[in-house]
Amino acid sequence: MLFFVVFKDFEKIKPSRLIMQEDILIKITNREGVTHQVQAPTDMNLSIMELIRSYELAPAGTVGHCGGRAMCTSCQCQILNDVPLNNMGEREQMLLLETKALRPNIRLGCQIPITENLEGLELELLAVN
Ligand code: FES
Repeated sequence: MLFFVVFKDFEKIKPSRLIMQEDILIKITNREGVTHQVQAPTDMNLSIMELIRSYELAPAGTVGHCGGRAMCTSCQCQILNDVPLNNMGEREQMLLLETKALRPNIRLGCQIPITENLEGLELELLAVN
């Protein structure tokens, strides 16, 4: 059986969304060491943690325990290249300091908003302690 989708109102679709100009590419290595290159929308106000969850790059319930409030470290990532990130906030710094993970290339995925600047970012999701 064949199904055809017909866009009757094709001209009403926002052209930029149709061709997804807002999307960027990010490489994420999961906890099993498998690297995935994923398309990340920059117009949906998502974080890296939410991107990892939406692509199911970690088993359900293992990432984002605190809902992205910088309280759990389940979204801890190692940044693998020099793509410029947003500055680390005080809450993120304190949590990483408390867990002895405060290093320049370690970030909480929930504290990194997806913006155009992240094009080509490479990171690895770290294991939960
Ligand atoms: S989701 Fe809890 S610290 Fe990022």
